[in-house]
Amino acid sequence: MKLSFAIVGCGRVGTALAKYLAEAGYIPAGLASKSISSAKRVADLIGSVNFTDIAWEATRKADIVFITTPDGTIKEACDSISEKNGFKSGSVVLHCSGALSSTELMSAKTCGANIGSMHPLQSFASTEYEFNPFSGIVTSVEGDREAVDAAKHVTEDLGSYCVTIKTEAKMLYHASAVVASNYLVTLLDLSLSLIKLAGVTGEDALRGLKPLIEGTISNVEKMGIQNALTGPIARGDIQIIEKHLSEIGSKTPQLLSLYKTLGLYTVEIAKEKGSISEAVRKRLEDLFQS
Ligand SMILES: NC(=O)c1ccc[n+]([C@@H]2O[C@H](COP(=O)([O-])OP(=O)(O)OC[C@H]3O[C@@H](n4cnc5c(N)ncnc54)[C@H](OP(=O)(O)O)[C@@H]3O)[C@@H](O)[C@H]2O)c1
Repeated sequence: MKLSFAIVGCGRVGTALAKYLAEAGYIPAGLASKSISSAKRVADLIGSVNFTDIAWEATRKADIVFITTPDGTIKEACDSISEKNGFKSGSVVLHCSGALSSTELMSAKTCGANIGSMHPLQSFASTEYEFNPFSGIVTSVEGDREAVDAAKHVTEDLGSYCVTIKTEAKMLYHASAVVASNYLVTLLDLSLSLIKLAGVTGEDALRGLKPLIEGTISNVEKMGIQNALTGPIARGDIQIIEKHLSEIGSKTPQLLSLYKTLGLYTVEIAKEKGSISEAVRKRLEDLFQS
């Protein structure tokens, strides 16, 4: 028989977990949120009547508890449940933060619970799900052995791939996720700003860039980072880079330092690729550092 679960914090991730855990056969023991309306919304979604705005009432009978409140309130939420002896002895308490480690949940050990973190590498942008956001993604887990074992089972039942990471490595791991997701948005904004200045606007801009973006991601997957690098830096085309810098500098100077920083990093990849000579590398570095 599948284990029972409780959710504390019925927001974007809490809603997705409740929906797809219930679909996978896990039994909802309790759904709690700061606002009763959030807890009720999720209860209605999965056909449960066990909703409350008192967290420890939702958690005390659950085999697995997910604390899916914002990162800044995970410890406080866990501590307040522990004070009420609100975790079942032998249960597993998990949070889903990418940046924070299982140590945020230390107080749950006073109830005899096992603690861990289970971070889905996915962007959850709303509480409405047409498809399973856990399907095919990587979820990283760390913590007590019992918690890691339980999180691995949950992860697989949700359709994700599980990787274990070191507790002390979480902050760098999270920084990596921020670059891949948030900074990709920033990078696309930079690209869209430049193409807009070139006179390509509205839907045409993204429609034009999208195949380039998708093709590049596919090339990285197929050939690796260095071989996927094309363009003027990989070719060592110094004159083109000089003209880029001059045009950006005159038309949109506020974007120049970001363009230069990314260029400098890209020179390093071209060097590793072996597609530019030492002299070209030096000249490009000088340009990007000027
Ligand atoms: N969003 C993502 O893309 C993403 C991806 C991976 C991991 N995560 C992690 O998942 C966790 C949840 O993030 P989220 O994006 O789902 O946040 P969210 O959408 O803001 O949801 C958090 C929910 O917790 C409720 N809440 C706040 N404080 C509470 C408390 N003290 N007790 C009980 N409920 C409380 C909120 O209030 P109401 O009850 O008023 O609604 C809200 O429903 C975080 O640790 C985050 O780092 C997020």
